[in-house]
Amino acid sequence: MSKFLKVTAATALSLCIAAPAYAEKLGLGRAALPEEIAAWDKDVSPNGEGLPEGSGDALVGEEVFAEKCASCHGDFAEGVDNWPKLAGGADTLADKDPLKTVGSYWPYLSTTWDYVNRSMPFGDAQTLTNDEVYAIVAYILYSNDLIEDDFVLSKETFLEVEMPNASGFILDDRLTSEAHFVGDACMSDCKDEVKITKHVVFKGDPNSPDDPVSESAGEAAQDAATAEDEAKAEDAPKAEEAAVVEAAALDAELVKAGEKVFKKCKACHQVGEGAKARTGPVLNGVVGAKLGHVENFKYSKTMLSMGEEGVVWNEANLAEFLKKPRSFVSKTKMSFAGLKKEDDIKAVTEYLKSFSE
Ligand code: HEC
Ligand code: HEC
Repeated sequence: MSKFLKVTAATALSLCIAAPAYAEKLGLGRAALPEEIAAWDKDVSPNGEGLPEGSGDALVGEEVFAEKCASCHGDFAEGVDNWPKLAGGADTLADKDPLKTVGSYWPYLSTTWDYVNRSMPFGDAQTLTNDEVYAIVAYILYSNDLIEDDFVLSKETFLEVEMPNASGFILDDRLTSEAHFVGDACMSDCKDEVKITKHVVFKGDPNSPDDPVSESAGEAAQDAATAEDEAKAEDAPKAEEAAVVEAAALDAELVKAGEKVFKKCKACHQVGEGAKARTGPVLNGVVGAKLGHVENFKYSKTMLSMGEEGVVWNEANLAEFLKKPRSFVSKTKMSFAGLKKEDDIKAVTEYLKSFSE
């Protein structure tokens, strides 16, 4: 909502600047007045930006609340009938039936200020003075046991209030973190028939990484993903095989073992002829190459600058990276926990060596 309003305010501002020329040419409209722009541009940000002058405490707030809000939200903000409750619900968010209120759920106090200022009292919105809004918000906080009754809420003290659920929200990064699930989705003339090749069953506690049962279940999940990959790339595997045969100087058994380990990488990386970048770059010819050598792949800054400094993917560097990606290349975009077993690292390195460019 606030983004929309900001854009609107910015648009209004640009119209205001551009208006005289248009108005003259078309004989239409007039420039927006500063107070008209101000009436739009009233959103408050989580850091308190946009808050007006004014102040209020819970005692004053209680009176205003009783007069203008209590008929629906209750004398103590506990809610009347089915009108929303504005207080209570502390520590219920993990329950089956959580009570989500300003106190228990809302991460930013600015939302409360903005909401009350913009849309309450219901049916009579935008009739409150700034002092009344400060006082009411203080009263709602007080009703949630979040401030003492002598706390004066204002622009200056706004950030002193700690909202219990401030860290309860995360940014939705699925568009990038799960891009590999949607990357090559078939949208037309797809296969008529889809066969389910494997099922994943979680027998143990899936949250425990040390649970051997869930580990094998995790592997089954990866197998399933791989089976899907292979089904999709039905015409590609021949090229992969050919490349493996060509590289005669390699330890064939180790390459084979590495191919298995590479299943863990396949969600993001491809190798062989016709390989395409997915979440991660194509890994053909990576052994011996500089870090971040694939053109047009959007590497992290660190990966690129290490490459520019001349760091190459020799076996030692690869081993360190694959063991703990984040410690070898800080802030790397490769969100992979790392390979625990040295043997796996050796094997997958040998496998990668078998794909020259
Ligand atoms: C006539 C009944 C009524 C009155 C009076 C009223 N509200 Fe509301 N309030 C509502 C309704 C209905 C909603 C839910 C609106 C929605 O979800 O779109 C609401 C929602 C809210 C919310 C958001 C609650 C949530 O968790 O989503 C706050 C905060 C709020 N009101 C504060 C106030 C304040 C402060 C006043 C007095 C200045 C006030 N209200 C007066 C009916 C009322
Ligand atoms: C979740 C996705 C993901 C998985 C799984 C993954 N990688 Fe990566 N990998 C990436 C991304 C993204 C980059 C680019 C990193 C950067 O720019 O910092 C990368 C970079 C690399 C590089 C450097 C490439 C270059 O051109 O410099 C190597 C080598 C590599 N990965 C190997 C592996 C191996 C081997 C595995 C499996 C054991 C693996 N990765 C698993 C996403 C992944």
